[in-house]
Amino acid sequence: MTRENNEERSVMPAFPDDFLWGTATAAYQVEGAWNEDGRGPSIWDTFSHTPGLVTNGDTGDLACDHYHRLEEDLDILAELGVGAYRFSISWPRVLPGGGDRLNQAGLDFYRRLVDGLRARNIAPVATLYHWDLPQELEDAGGWPNRDTAYRFAAYAHRMGEALGDRVATWITLNEPWCSAYLGYASGVHAPARTEPAAALAALHHLNLGHGLAARALREVIDPAAQVSVTLNLHHARGVSEGDADAVRRVDALANRAFLGPMLDGAYPRDLIDDTASVTDWSFVKDGDEATAAAPIEVLGVNYYNPVLVRQWDGKGPRDTADGHGDGAASPWINCDDVEFVQQPGPYTEMGWNIDETGLTELLLRLRRDYPSLPVMITENGAAFPDEVSADGRVHDADRIDYLRRHLTAVTEAIAGGADVRGYFLWSLMDNFEWAHGYGKRFGIIRVNRDTMERTWKDSAHWYRDVVAANALPAEATTP
Ligand code: FCB
Repeated sequence: MTRENNEERSVMPAFPDDFLWGTATAAYQVEGAWNEDGRGPSIWDTFSHTPGLVTNGDTGDLACDHYHRLEEDLDILAELGVGAYRFSISWPRVLPGGGDRLNQAGLDFYRRLVDGLRARNIAPVATLYHWDLPQELEDAGGWPNRDTAYRFAAYAHRMGEALGDRVATWITLNEPWCSAYLGYASGVHAPARTEPAAALAALHHLNLGHGLAARALREVIDPAAQVSVTLNLHHARGVSEGDADAVRRVDALANRAFLGPMLDGAYPRDLIDDTASVTDWSFVKDGDEATAAAPIEVLGVNYYNPVLVRQWDGKGPRDTADGHGDGAASPWINCDDVEFVQQPGPYTEMGWNIDETGLTELLLRLRRDYPSLPVMITENGAAFPDEVSADGRVHDADRIDYLRRHLTAVTEAIAGGADVRGYFLWSLMDNFEWAHGYGKRFGIIRVNRDTMERTWKDSAHWYRDVVAANALPAEATTP
């Protein structure tokens, strides 16, 4: 390396010394073994088995067969050198039916996973709910039913008892925005309901469930363990200053609907007013908001792209490019006069625009609004249509570029004062991308759908180097 290069390298974006590097997955997206060893059905089994709901009729029945390839996948994580791994526990695998009966075989799988991580010096970060509600609880009303929040807390308590001495960080919910609005308003996710009032009740019971679960965990887990929740906050921008109210409305539904109760102990007044024609919010009982505001040590943030909104003038077709699929109904309750404007490219395979500046701005906003709350990026990554080249490798330079941009954005937020503790790349491997099936590949490890063979993409080699250096290399390199 020349002296010049050396100098260049010394000013490359670096991360705090104890920065936590990881990758992320979720149970239904990778495990498979959907009906083995006593696992009960979840709403995603029902959804994916319903013809027409998932592209190509794909299901998570096999997924990445992670359930049977656990050791191989743990070894990949060890080779990547990551300090942490974010996975989710399948509720119906450990408590089939969502009741009290523990399925020991299911729990044993997570014990092997957690112990296998620890044996490799990888901190386990466990998400309790990444969208796979036991089907029986949906049959009883699902998240719009208040009892689901209590069932969730009971499940959290059981997991805390079983694994609380060996999990470093507990994440109660993953993206309750998706559970409430995509599951119950637009219906593009399980359980495919399109009932706006029920979606808002679901939203509240998710917030309540988070608070109850955080408290239940705290009773039994190692005092040094962290409790967190992962939100997909939407960084909303207006096309012009005249669109400030559209920005406010979207911010209320997407962000403050969760940040309010969970961190401030109250729903924002404007959210209640904006949705008054849909619900009177009588499902919020005295004390619920205080319960939702259980203390957490760190906030999980998932970021993929920003949104651009405009007040609709009622003329011509309304732009609805929010990146959340084409449901028969909108996830944006009472926002019929708000347009989601198509943003300039480049785009990922999801059609999501690549704009890392939104991540810096979002992190700085959180810093301003919640100055004493550390955050970690619990998901960030990109789908591209990568293929195996003649040389047997996957040259996913576009993914490396995406990651580099977003990691640089994280360093800029840190330089601006944001307290960012870690970064979890979505995803360790190509997996079941919900209603899109297997067509969208987010992995840094490629999974061959016929053989289940795992192949390191160039991005995996690149990420291993980033993790080892705790810094970004000078430029995108192909190994
Ligand atoms: C997030 C989900 C995750 C994955 C990525 C692409 O919304 O949490 O499971 O599907 O999007």
